[in-house]
Amino acid sequence: MTKPRVAIYPGSFDPLTLGHEDIARRCLHFLDRLIIAVAHHPTQEKDRLFSVDERVEMIEERFRDESRIEVTEFSGLLVDFAKSRDASLVIRGLRAVSDFEYEFQMALMNRELWPEFEVVFMTPAADYTFLSASLVREISGLGGDVSRFVSASVLKRLQARSRS
Ligand code: PNS
Repeated sequence: MTKPRVAIYPGSFDPLTLGHEDIARRCLHFLDRLIIAVAHHPTQEKDRLFSVDERVEMIEERFRDESRIEVTEFSGLLVDFAKSRDASLVIRGLRAVSDFEYEFQMALMNRELWPEFEVVFMTPAADYTFLSASLVREISGLGGDVSRFVSASVLKRLQARSRS
């Protein structure tokens, strides 16, 4: 029997945007299973809009209908998490040239740490190439309309957070 094709899609997902969702669903065209892994950096938690539990919850809500997607959190090194799940393939979204340097450096460093590490860069739909979670946070926090950039359930959480 051939081994199932499994990959990890790691990130902060603060919050999950339609760009993230687009990439996750595209991956299922060539994967058997995708593990969306929310990074938990205890020292950075104070700078996050949503807690790790909330981020996991909002991603789970969106992919409840998709049995090939698992959502979890991880802390520590990505390569250690990937080894623990026996998945050497990682997915990252690449929107523009500006993303490239950071992604390239991270990919090569991860491979230094674990030679089996491979990364697949995915391009989102053109509509989402300008979209980032940090811009969504900023616009929403300043009262702007982000309904085109996030799902209705994420929007509800953002609005509740802006009011509190
Ligand atoms: O969505 P982000 O913030 O761009 O995701 C970055 C993430 C979580 C993939 C990256 O920070 C990461 O892999 N963190 C885990 C810690 C780690 O392995 N650091 C070494 C990277 S070379």
